[in-house]
Amino acid sequence: MQLDLDFIRSQFPIFQTELGQKIGFFDNAGGSFPAIQVVNRLTDFYKNYKIQPYGPNALGTKAGEAMDLGYHTMAKLLNVSINEMTIGASATQNLNTLAIACNSIVTKGSEVIVTEQDHEANIGGWERLCRQQNAILKIWKVQTNTGELVLENLEKLLTPQTKILCITHSSNIIGTINPINKIADLIRPMGIRLVVDGVSFAPHEFPNLDELKCDAYVFSTYKTYGTHQGIMVVRPDFLEELEPQCHFFNESILHKRLDTAGPNHASIAALAGIGDYFEAAYNHHFPNKELPLHEKTRKISCLMNAHENKICSYLLKNIQNLPLKFFGKKTMEGREANISIKADNVSSKSIMKGLAADNIVSKQGHFYAYRLMQAMKVTNLNDGILRLSFSHYNSMEEVERCVDGLKKLII
Ligand SMILES: Cc1ncc(COP(=O)(O)O)c(C=O)c1O
Repeated sequence: MQLDLDFIRSQFPIFQTELGQKIGFFDNAGGSFPAIQVVNRLTDFYKNYKIQPYGPNALGTKAGEAMDLGYHTMAKLLNVSINEMTIGASATQNLNTLAIACNSIVTKGSEVIVTEQDHEANIGGWERLCRQQNAILKIWKVQTNTGELVLENLEKLLTPQTKILCITHSSNIIGTINPINKIADLIRPMGIRLVVDGVSFAPHEFPNLDELKCDAYVFSTYKTYGTHQGIMVVRPDFLEELEPQCHFFNESILHKRLDTAGPNHASIAALAGIGDYFEAAYNHHFPNKELPLHEKTRKISCLMNAHENKICSYLLKNIQNLPLKFFGKKTMEGREANISIKADNVSSKSIMKGLAADNIVSKQGHFYAYRLMQAMKVTNLNDGILRLSFSHYNSMEEVERCVDGLKKLII
């Protein structure tokens, strides 16, 4: 079965606009387009009941019900209890809060391991925590030629003092999917907590938390067709060990424990639209309508991923002979569709501008994976690399235009 791209694109308002039809958008890792269901729910909230939710009046009740639906839909999509889930402002904020909340686990002399491959969101907060607690931050380094993490190098870092390991599910630069369960099998018998940054992974394959053996999982909904929020799932036994970061009188409400910002009502309500979108896409493609939402989502997500892999393979095949350095695996095996390149003779900025003139959106920079860039010896981080990040709503025609543009610009 193939993804019905016409149906998929009909679910995104952007493709109904003149510009949206003209532009081939390959900066999806920076934020995806929102689905119509999300936009409708957001608009509905603002238009019809944008007041403090849960008040004992008709408007407050409606607003409260809409927000609850947002929370419950996200929990259903992930097949987790709402008690395990924090909806914060962003993944960065959630990870920073989590790090602060680990202050009774990470004490003087404890060790925390972060990776050189990660986005700074899953490094900086842990580094600050270690500094405050007189603990030791250890860095799991990448192979400088490939940017890959090698498991044997992790083994050398583990000691009885290691408390937490933080790692990205897939790299936002080289695209590699890290073997989370293999890592879990290695460290969990030692009582080490595993914190996974799924921000780069989730837009390509909606995470299956039934299978992933981690203690905390974080991703961003503005990259998965929703509003600008961060989702953090923390397993109950880990949550119990953490210092609550909310108002003291809310500590017994578990999904508020790690919510430092206070909720963005309308934006959380609109998250129910992500569930509506996956459901509509599933129902359009598959006959069995009886499945729970998380199973529908996994099935349709597989189809979306297969489409992405197909069109991204075309790009991979057709840019191999250009004069450029290519980061990451050269086929789609074991990787996601975030493609990073650096041309030998042309700056990333001028390629980005050249592509934009032909209505192809790409992005250049270090993408906050600063340490990875340094490790891979990317010079001039201001210019950085050029990244083309795909979503399932991209078409082959857009990829072909992108390849033509790259061939014209990279000489
Ligand atoms: C891998 C990765 N982790 C974390 C983040 C930060 O996410 P947020 O913008 O929700 O803070 C990003 C953002 O691009 C990312 O790519």
